[in-house]
Order: sequence, then structure tokens, then C-alpha cells
Amino acid sequence: MNQATLHQLKVFEAAARHGSFTRAAEELFLTQPTVSMQIKQLTKSVGLPLFEQVGKRLYLTEAGRELFATCRQIFDTIAQFEMKVADLKGLKQGQLRLAVITTAKYFIPRLLGPFCQLYPGIDIALQVTNHEGILERMSANLDDLYILSQVPEHMDVNYQPFLENPMVVVAPINHRLAKEKKISIQQLEDEPFIMREPGSGTRRSIQKLFDEHNITVKVKLELGSNEAIKQAIAGGLGISVLSRHTLLPELADLTILDVEHFPIKRDWYMVYPNGKQLSIVARTYCEYLLDAAKQFNQKTIGVYAEAER
Ligand code: PGA
Repeated sequence: MNQATLHQLKVFEAAARHGSFTRAAEELFLTQPTVSMQIKQLTKSVGLPLFEQVGKRLYLTEAGRELFATCRQIFDTIAQFEMKVADLKGLKQGQLRLAVITTAKYFIPRLLGPFCQLYPGIDIALQVTNHEGILERMSANLDDLYILSQVPEHMDVNYQPFLENPMVVVAPINHRLAKEKKISIQQLEDEPFIMREPGSGTRRSIQKLFDEHNITVKVKLELGSNEAIKQAIAGGLGISVLSRHTLLPELADLTILDVEHFPIKRDWYMVYPNGKQLSIVARTYCEYLLDAAKQFNQKTIGVYAEAER
């Protein structure tokens, strides 16, 4: 590997990530022949093929997969070094890669504006996906920090709860139970129910509560987005259980039903794999988020009470 250059590794990493020389060339503003040439030279240094072509698709060989994992480590280490140097220079610079569950998208992006103003040298990449999507990203070590509502059970992680994430029963504003108090959970069985997709943490927490109380709801519709569910409820298609945060700031034409055993009490957690070296940027963000969550909590308690009155 003495002949290999950092540039070749960069080209290889992009080609492996995209599974395509053409897309790697686009990303790196190179020509496709340059990418092919760099990878050819790198292959020569390694002494084994790195890619194989099956039909139209490009796959990594075993040596290619090893090199891909090594590249990730090398580039992570270099990024850490760059951030340390920036820190020594008194600058907070670098990239922050965040992956958040769907319900946190109502909260996290709002906080990013003030954070970016405080630290103009930090660039942010934000991914929003469901619970299962976050776990996949975490296993592939794709991001610096993850925000989700349930600590992964089969992964060794560091976690810290920072905000409550209550789950409430949502119905159209003119629903026949809208004015009732202490509705029994069994009554939900009579209502058409709108459910999130498999792999959703929201769905899992609802199912857990229903299983505990032997409730079987009539799932009329399955939808993969909280926003779509809210529209479907407003359109009279049924009721659902959603994070209270998805109803921010106001309830518009929806209402929260007062059903026993609700809200389901959950929290948002900031999570990262154990052993991961948090970058200075990520640590700065953690501190910022904890502080912002405290302020948000104080503000929203009043807003929720007002909306639900
Ligand atoms: P979900 O995540 O988008 O997977 O439902 C939300 C949650 O777990 O609270």
C-alpha cells in the first residue's frame, strides 16, 4: 500500500459508496476515465481486485469491502484531526451529521438555525427517517449523533434522555368523543384507526400498549408519515396516536381525546454507539441541545395547555 495515495482512497471510497464510477466522478468533479485510472492504480497497489461487475451492477470484492471499512476509519480520523486543529485555533468548524426520527423533525430543525448562527463554521447534514431507518444508519456508523425515542436494545450505545415525547390520541375536532372525559381504552376498538408503517417506533409503542390491554383496533389505513396521518384524521378517515410534538404549534382542526392510559410516556434520547469518538462539533451540539431542550420544555408546557383548553 506504500504507493497508494490519499486521493486514490478518496476516489475509491466515493465509488464504493455509490456503487458507481460515474457518480463518484460527479461527486468529486472528476472525469470518469480519471476515476477508473485512480482505481486501477489503487488495485495494483493492493494486489487484488477491489470491484467486480455482475451484469450492470458493480459490487465490492472482499478486499474491496475491507478497504472500504479502512477508508472510513482513515477519513474519520482525519476529520477528527482537522476538528482538533480548528479547536486549537479557537474555531468550531467541521461537519455535524445528525439522524433523527420523524417526530423530532418538528423540533430539531428549528434549533439548527440559532446553532448555525452561533457556530457559522459548522455545516450540518440532517437525515430524517423512522426508528428502523435510524438503527440501520447507526449500525453502518453513518452519522455523529442519533435522536430517537427508544434506546436500541441490541446495540451497545451511549444515551441521554433530553425531552419528553408523549403520545396522544388524535381525532378530528368534531369527533363524537371530543368532549368526553376519561374515555375507556376499549372504546378505541370501535374507531377506524390510522396506523404508521412497520418499522415505525410510534407504531411499536402503540402496539405495546394495545397488547398490554388486549385491544385490537380496526386499522383502516396505514401511512408512512405523521403529516399524512394528520391530514387523514382531519379528513375524517379515522383516529390515530401521534407524538404530541407532531401537533406543534397549534391543533388546527384536530383534537386530543382524553383516553385512559394516555399519553403514552416516552422520551427523546440523544444516542451514539459506544466507543465512537464524538467530534468536538458533536459534543458542542450535545451541550447546546440539552440546554435548548430545557428552554423548549418550559415554553411548550404553556403552549400545550393553551391549545388543549
Ligand atoms: P417513528 O419514530 O417515525 O419510527 O415512528 C418516532 C418515535 O419512535 O417516536
